Amino acid sequence: MRARKKKWVSPYLESHPELDGESFDPAPFKGKSPLYLEIGTGKGDFIVAQSQKIEGTYIGLERDEMVLSIAHKKVVSSECKEVYLYRADFDFLFERLSGLSFDIIYLNFSDPWPKKRHEKRRLTFAPRLRNIVSLLSEKGELRIKTDNDTLFEFTLEQAVEVGLHEVSVDKDYQTDSETDSVTEYEAAWRGKGKNIYRMVYTK
Ligand SMILES: C[S@@+](CC[C@H](N)C(=O)[O-])C[C@H]1O[C@@H](n2cnc3c(N)ncnc32)[C@H](O)[C@@H]1O
Repeated sequence: MRARKKKWVSPYLESHPELDGESFDPAPFKGKSPLYLEIGTGKGDFIVAQSQKIEGTYIGLERDEMVLSIAHKKVVSSECKEVYLYRADFDFLFERLSGLSFDIIYLNFSDPWPKKRHEKRRLTFAPRLRNIVSLLSEKGELRIKTDNDTLFEFTLEQAVEVGLHEVSVDKDYQTDSETDSVTEYEAAWRGKGKNIYRMVYTK
């Protein structure tokens, strides 16, 4: 459960209108290579660490105002020049993103929406998953990590429905620090001894 929104968040976002998803313009990202997208960036640990490890242009989408603001502060203090964050829901930005071609799209510990009646809200629900993978370049990869057993099983099924090509499925993923970075949720779940699932797909 997320903490309540802090008082500094609204003034912070007002002073950073470039973070508003409404202002997203795909034009400056066209032709950028490599280009990476993280959907549900959270507090930014992954996108900051990953951008410091692997060169490229990173776009992070996060729909929660406070979480996005915390992530942005980290991006600024870490002096990450090629990381661009937007407060937006993926569905809202999908059409504008669709002119871009991503080398890797990351779904890190996406909200599991554990109730069956909420499964359409999951990022990997087939119609949304189809939209997500349509943003990948020819050899682009969708990299998914989750702690959640239900979301893992659901994603396997949805990937089959969408006709994705499975590159790898790991039920006890041990981080590869050369190519990957640990997220806030990942650190917490690993601390509790939970196995981490990781799936990699191409379209
Ligand atoms: C469980 S948290 C994980 C955060 C981070 N990725 C991590 O691994 O620590 C999931 C995050 O995704 C965001 N989120 C969920 N659905 C989203 C969507 N459709 N578009 C943008 N952000 C979304 C939520 O607001 C939340 O901050």
